Amino acid sequence: MTDSNTATNDSEFYTMLIDGDWRAATDGATFSSINPYDGRAWARVPVATDADVDAAVTAARRAFDTGPWSQFTPLQRATLLRNFGDLIRSNADELARIQVLENGKLIREVAGQTVALANHCYFFAGVAESPTGETLASSVPNMQVFTVREPIGVVAAITPWNSPLALLLWKMCPALAVGNTMVIKPSEITPVSTLVLAHLAQEAGFPDGVINVVTGAGPTGAAVAGHPDVDKIAFTGSTAVGKKIAVTAAERLARVSLELGGKSPNIVFPDADLPNAINGVISGIFAATGQTCMAGSRVLVHEDIYDEFSAALSERTARIKLGDPLDPDTEMGTVACQSQLDKVLHYIDVAKQDGAHLATGGARPTSPELSKGLFVEPTVFTDVTNDMRIAREEVFGPVAVVIKFTDEDDAVRIANDTSFGLAAGVWTRDVARAHRMAKRLRAGNVWINNYRKTNYVAPFGGFKESGLGRENGFHAIEEYTEVKTVWIDTGNVISDPFNPRA
Ligand code: NAI
Ligand code: MG
Repeated sequence: MTDSNTATNDSEFYTMLIDGDWRAATDGATFSSINPYDGRAWARVPVATDADVDAAVTAARRAFDTGPWSQFTPLQRATLLRNFGDLIRSNADELARIQVLENGKLIREVAGQTVALANHCYFFAGVAESPTGETLASSVPNMQVFTVREPIGVVAAITPWNSPLALLLWKMCPALAVGNTMVIKPSEITPVSTLVLAHLAQEAGFPDGVINVVTGAGPTGAAVAGHPDVDKIAFTGSTAVGKKIAVTAAERLARVSLELGGKSPNIVFPDADLPNAINGVISGIFAATGQTCMAGSRVLVHEDIYDEFSAALSERTARIKLGDPLDPDTEMGTVACQSQLDKVLHYIDVAKQDGAHLATGGARPTSPELSKGLFVEPTVFTDVTNDMRIAREEVFGPVAVVIKFTDEDDAVRIANDTSFGLAAGVWTRDVARAHRMAKRLRAGNVWINNYRKTNYVAPFGGFKESGLGRENGFHAIEEYTEVKTVWIDTGNVISDPFNPRA
């Protein structure tokens, strides 16, 4: 992936943050960040060497063990998180714009998402000062027993490109609130937004070594995950890489949390508000050009409304306005990189070969103004059965498959017949059915008459191969702390050292 070892073109060069210093790679190697809308290599960043990774982890280790941060009070940590939130809010336009340049996501989605990240910081600033231990009801005579939650140590955050800053802050806020230090490895598709965010973290006042960022691709991520001084790995990305990281972590029993892929069902009953359901299904799969872990990529529709719903879905899909992701009128942008485009087109072929009916889309758009961008038409396949590859494997692109079901039991059976379990949507006006479905669906998130909602208070994560652990809310604190149990003798006389009860 290295494109040069010297600054030979006019794109801007961004450096990495290691122990409070902004550095190039020790061997000077760089790679480019490419705008998927116009194909321009607009920024260059370092390819971290193993020595750079080691320096970053060593800095985080020292900051955790003996740096000023190790003596910070919860209020001091909370204050820095509030400063950080303020800076994210005041720089949200720039942070949003950079993310769009990197991954082609719509400014109209990213702008709101980025401002909202400030609230994430404020919530976890509050959590920093919330009680987290418990006083136990001890039945052991003269013993007071309580627990405290302590930071784990050095946390590695390895992040993807689809929502680079949101998925990073989901890790940073709880990890820092409770006193960990961090080494961050952003996706090679979206390194710049993370580097700019790290400037704001430094400005917020986090001491040197508390937050380090190394850039590079898979090998850099593997070097971070495999470093013996990393105590916990928090990863969002593909299931394949997530499994590798779990194996790496297991070798030294490092803590790990994984937020991985999905093939989430979005289930429409005949008693739903159908116009609403169509909009929900469209946003579930075509928002972010289908590049979200929680994409509602399997649309399950009751047989009584299957034809009517499929026709309406295809009609609205065909009218989705593609264009410049920075134009607020655009409804769908590009995919993030060439390999994603290739993957989406490959899966469209697989679906056709397996006998799915292409209802709309299925190709690259032909209009000249879209020709430079990595566009693919929003695509709907009907007559899909759940055993087809297009219904089983994550495409991570704008491809919906519409599957027919006969009744509630059939819907549940199809919905749960997947190796994933990240999310599920249900569209119905029957409140009893809504509760029955919420209970029976094997997924970490169930949305009734809405889709893709997340918030800092609400735990997010997956069942089955969609991951391990939960992000957000108080559950996130469990992912970034160890529990210590403390026994205090309140007046026991040890008369017989060999009989602990005496
Ligand atoms: P990926 O899983 O390869 O990359 C995610 C992060 O892991 C990046 O920072 C990457 O550099 C790093 N990484 C890659 N190999 C690694 C290794 N061996 N050890 C440690 N870190 C490593 O995802 P990629 O290649 O960007 O996309 C491939 C597919 O993954 C997508 O088509 C999609 O299906 C899925 N994906 C899922 C995401 C989600 O939100 N669940 C996000 C991004 C991708
Ligand atoms: Mg990869």
